[in-house]
Amino acid sequence: MTNLKGPDGFDLFYGEMYGERWPRLKAALLLPKKHVAVLNPFSKFKFDKIPLHVSGVSFEHDVRESFPQPEKTEEGYTNYYLLDAASILPVEALDIHPGERIVDLCAAPGGKSFLCALKMKNLGLLISNDRSAARRARIHNIFNDYLPKTEQKNHKITSYDATKWCLYEKSAYDKVLLDAPCSSERHVLEDNKELSMWAPGRTKAIAVTQFAMLASALDIVKVGGTVVYSTCALSQLENDDIIRKLHQKRPHRFELIRKEFPFGDPTEFGWQILPDNTGWGPFYLAVVKRIK
Ligand SMILES: C[S@@+](CC[C@H](N)C(=O)[O-])C[C@H]1O[C@@H](n2cnc3c(N)ncnc32)[C@H](O)[C@@H]1O
Repeated sequence: MTNLKGPDGFDLFYGEMYGERWPRLKAALLLPKKHVAVLNPFSKFKFDKIPLHVSGVSFEHDVRESFPQPEKTEEGYTNYYLLDAASILPVEALDIHPGERIVDLCAAPGGKSFLCALKMKNLGLLISNDRSAARRARIHNIFNDYLPKTEQKNHKITSYDATKWCLYEKSAYDKVLLDAPCSSERHVLEDNKELSMWAPGRTKAIAVTQFAMLASALDIVKVGGTVVYSTCALSQLENDDIIRKLHQKRPHRFELIRKEFPFGDPTEFGWQILPDNTGWGPFYLAVVKRIK
């Protein structure tokens, strides 16, 4: 692996990882992002044409290159939430049933927590956790902008360090979503200052934190419960390699659940969505079931 820093090091590092695919992938990463608008049922808004469904994604939504900014309807709630279609998949993978106890360990700004809340129908417990105070404020805002207060009775916002949660609570939740902080290479590529500061040690350091978070998640979910691990990273160190390490460090404590999704490709342990062949992502997810 390269030790070169900055844009040249970045190209070399991801060129080695993705081979012949890298130039095509890099070009796709630099294209404007497409969005999905997930309809907020509490706003009573209707799309003005029949929504284009990404097959297999169960939220009512529309897909376009660009949408007008979301806005409040007469009901007082914001009409839709914009996100990358790949970001919906970890919530689909959680297979949420109303009444379950669910933690979104790294939740801010809160898009996936909002989707979880729609699935939970205000029954059970939904905890949206994030260590950053400024980003937790965004979770508050999203919930208040999108959901009536009466629909937030099962929702709590907490501020724990996800790597340490397991020190205080064990075997307590049915489902855990770990949408981990990651290298976010798409954002690095879009920002010359970030790109000039890029170094290969960065993804290695982030991977250490991600593994600590996943180990913590495996302790706090109940036996029989599910952890969905996801990132928007391109680096395999933060994706399949994290699950490989879980196999090495926590053998016999979990099994992988292999799920198929409507777009993207299977990887050794999970599923990856890359923009050169889907128009969505980059995104990675793996589904882990605790068995011991
Ligand atoms: C990829 S973002 C999460 C995006 C979010 N799931 C969503 O869909 O809107 C990762 C989040 O992890 C939070 N974070 C970073 N380190 C953390 C830690 N040790 N414990 C808890 N949250 C952390 C960051 O503040 C950031 O908001």
